[in-house]
Amino acid sequence: MTLTASLKTRIASLSSTASAEKDALLPPPQHIAIIMDGNGRWAKARNLPRLAGHRAGTENLRRVLRACKNHGVKIVTLYAFSTENWRRPAEEVEGLMKLLETYIDRELEALHREGVQIRHLGRLERIPPALQRKIQHAIEYTRNNTELILNVALNYGGRAEIVDAARRMLAEGLRPEDVTEATFSRYLYTTGLPDPDLIIRTSGEYRVSNFLIWQGAYAEYYITEVLWPDFDEKELAKAIEHYRRRERRFGGLKA
Ligand code: FPP
Repeated sequence: MTLTASLKTRIASLSSTASAEKDALLPPPQHIAIIMDGNGRWAKARNLPRLAGHRAGTENLRRVLRACKNHGVKIVTLYAFSTENWRRPAEEVEGLMKLLETYIDRELEALHREGVQIRHLGRLERIPPALQRKIQHAIEYTRNNTELILNVALNYGGRAEIVDAARRMLAEGLRPEDVTEATFSRYLYTTGLPDPDLIIRTSGEYRVSNFLIWQGAYAEYYITEVLWPDFDEKELAKAIEHYRRRERRFGGLKA
């Protein structure tokens, strides 16, 4: 074989390996959920108050949401405030609620223009009334948008969600034989949405923290040491790349 012919064969074999590897990749995740952890540590490292970390974490949303959209993600679920976060000092809780209000005031129009549909996951009770009204307005205002669904888990707990679903099923008089996994899913806050494919947790904590405990049953987890305010487009791309190399078996065997 001449040198050129042998080179051609080699190139053809390399490109067929690359395309086989590409074929073996999972499609990009349709639904990404994020535990945005590490705001406090980000602030501490800069000698700033914890709220400055939460503010930086809020400002980070714009670039991450845009990047999700660019990757073809259709649903993003953010863990903004858990049913357990009420145990934090009043000053931090109030500051976080204020930040959420400001976020809606400042970003709603831009999110709407970008076709984002906002939904709330969690219990509205206990959320300050002014914020409740803003959340309800944001949901109503964006309800017909279809580019990206943004679920904001606020006063959210996975166990509370399951309890709320069970209560509603009982209140509506469902019979025991009506209660299947599919029925349960319909009664959760995420009703009608597919389960998350990928759950990202920043700041290196290996915990589920009561987040999407039903819906995350078969999700792929990605944990990074990066603190939430520093989690940028490149970090998101890394998480998606990791996810795409995984093999999802849903309890079955390798295909
Ligand atoms: C965890 O970091 C973060 C939170 C409890 C709040 C996350 C909320 C936001 C980023 C606000 C914006 C959200 C929306 C949807 C507008 P931590 O305080 O536990 O950090 P630490 O573990 O370093 O102390």
